[in-house]
Amino acid sequence: MIELALRQSLRCLAVAGFLFGGMVGSCAAWADDASAGASVFKTECSECHSVKEGRNKKGPSLFGIVGRSAGTISDYSYSDALRQAHWVWTADKLHSYLSQPAKQANPGTKMKYEGLSDPKQLDDLISYLSTIH
Ligand code: HEC
Repeated sequence: MIELALRQSLRCLAVAGFLFGGMVGSCAAWADDASAGASVFKTECSECHSVKEGRNKKGPSLFGIVGRSAGTISDYSYSDALRQAHWVWTADKLHSYLSQPAKQANPGTKMKYEGLSDPKQLDDLISYLSTIH
């Protein structure tokens, strides 16, 4: 764990050194967010979702979800609500869907998930998901 953090910081330092010193802070913050998001994913989502390409569980694979059109994994059987959704999963859209999936964002969805109310956890989770491509 420490070794990994060290390696990430070294990589960040190399990039930051190349650009300018002020980047160090944001690099470190970025690394933290994505790894904190990975653990949010594990506790909140992994029961029903995998991030492996082509791997559907109760819910569809979330490989490349940021930037993907809603309801478009061809071998997954979506609810009508999601199949008829015409949007792209941007960070903002994920934010509102994941905070209250069934209530406002997508009435009729079969994603049985209460929602994640902590905005910091949501941000970390979405940073993590945007690294999966
Ligand atoms: C209890 C199981 C369950 C949990 C927990 C769950 N989901 Fe889902 N998720 C589903 C199901 C089922 C669907 C399909 C919904 C539909 O067809 O209406 C889905 C759909 C989605 C979609 C739409 C995918 C697409 O292809 O359009 C996204 C995005 C998503 N989930 C993200 C998440 C994230 C991120 C978490 C964790 C915060 C999470 N889900 C937690 C079951 C779950």
